[in-house]
Amino acid sequence: MTDKTLFSPYQLGNIELANRIVMAPLTRNRAGKGLVPSEFAADYYAQRASAGLIISEATQISPQAQGYQDTPGLYTPEQIDAWRKVTDAVHAKGGKIFVQLWHVGRISHIDLQPNGASPVAPSAIRANTKTFVNNTFTDVSEPRALELHEIPVIVSDFRQAAANAITAGFDGVEIHAANGYLLEQFIKDGANQRTDIYGGSIENRARLLLEVVQAVVREIGAERTGVRISPVSPVNGISCSEPQLQYNYITEQLNQLGIVYLHVVEGATGGPRDILPFDYTAIRSRFEQTYLANNGYNLQLANAHLQSNEADLFSFGKLFISNPDLVTRLKNGLPLTELNPATLYGGGAEGYTDYPNYDN
Ligand SMILES: Cc1cc2nc3c(=O)[nH]c(=O)nc-3n(C[C@H](O)[C@H](O)[C@H](O)COP(=O)(O)O)c2cc1C
Repeated sequence: MTDKTLFSPYQLGNIELANRIVMAPLTRNRAGKGLVPSEFAADYYAQRASAGLIISEATQISPQAQGYQDTPGLYTPEQIDAWRKVTDAVHAKGGKIFVQLWHVGRISHIDLQPNGASPVAPSAIRANTKTFVNNTFTDVSEPRALELHEIPVIVSDFRQAAANAITAGFDGVEIHAANGYLLEQFIKDGANQRTDIYGGSIENRARLLLEVVQAVVREIGAERTGVRISPVSPVNGISCSEPQLQYNYITEQLNQLGIVYLHVVEGATGGPRDILPFDYTAIRSRFEQTYLANNGYNLQLANAHLQSNEADLFSFGKLFISNPDLVTRLKNGLPLTELNPATLYGGGAEGYTDYPNYDN
């Protein structure tokens, strides 16, 4: 046992976080024309700047990477300028912010793809899940398998988006390799039936993620690069036959690349933590840098896992939506506000920037 506390500063690579409480990435579907972050986004994130670190909502690396309506991108000058307002507002409040970079792969719809094209995936296997498009939840479209020659373009799009993130003033990037999106589709054999160097073995299925991480690390540095994984989460209709072996290998490789943190969704994202047997201490012990834990944490569980050294940082998702001053509330034992599910996805300020601080 130690006497570490969630509420004291933590050194993450080259940046000092005010505390060990992280705002998890949260898609809110409020981007404006040109998929630029909305005019409310700077306020929304600044209201939550007392988190030790904010991880932004998932943000597209290219037009093809989009899978839901009104999610922001980071590949046009207008998007970079709009994100700059967000990062400036967070920094003005003393906060730190990483952007989560995603490519959704097969979790998309032809109405969102350039020229109505099919979404891309490791294999032409449709996911049994829905996306949010035309203001409703709709089955995802049938994907097509990426050609071998297209894969370097995906790597390059991640690299360029990471460079854009630094131009936009982010403190770093989180590569989204969780929750059934493109990088996880390659990792998990339920979605990947390729017979080339990107399919089959554990090493081959990890290859695209590792190429992306290498390219991003080369572009912006390992101390500004984090990765999110969800080893056993079935969200977005995905499965993996040997998650422990697969993720032990991935963690060893990411450790060698020296990335600043590994963000682990423990269990089913937004659901039970104990859905399948999985030894997270095997991940923890293979990774020398910061272990950032997520999924269903409250103050008590985070404290327990901090004291037993199972994690260094803890991210909170739903609690940050309705409690902009979550850190103050947890620190002082103040009551927490419930979130309104009706205003999660899409809309304007309501359910976004109008959740008050406790003392208002
Ligand atoms: C409204 C909403 C949007 C989400 N968007 C993202 C996202 O963009 N990227 C991501 O990796 N996870 C996303 N998640 C998952 C959360 O980051 C987190 O893993 C999940 O809510 C479990 O943490 P919690 O129990 O603290 O809420 C989202 C969850 C919710 C509720």
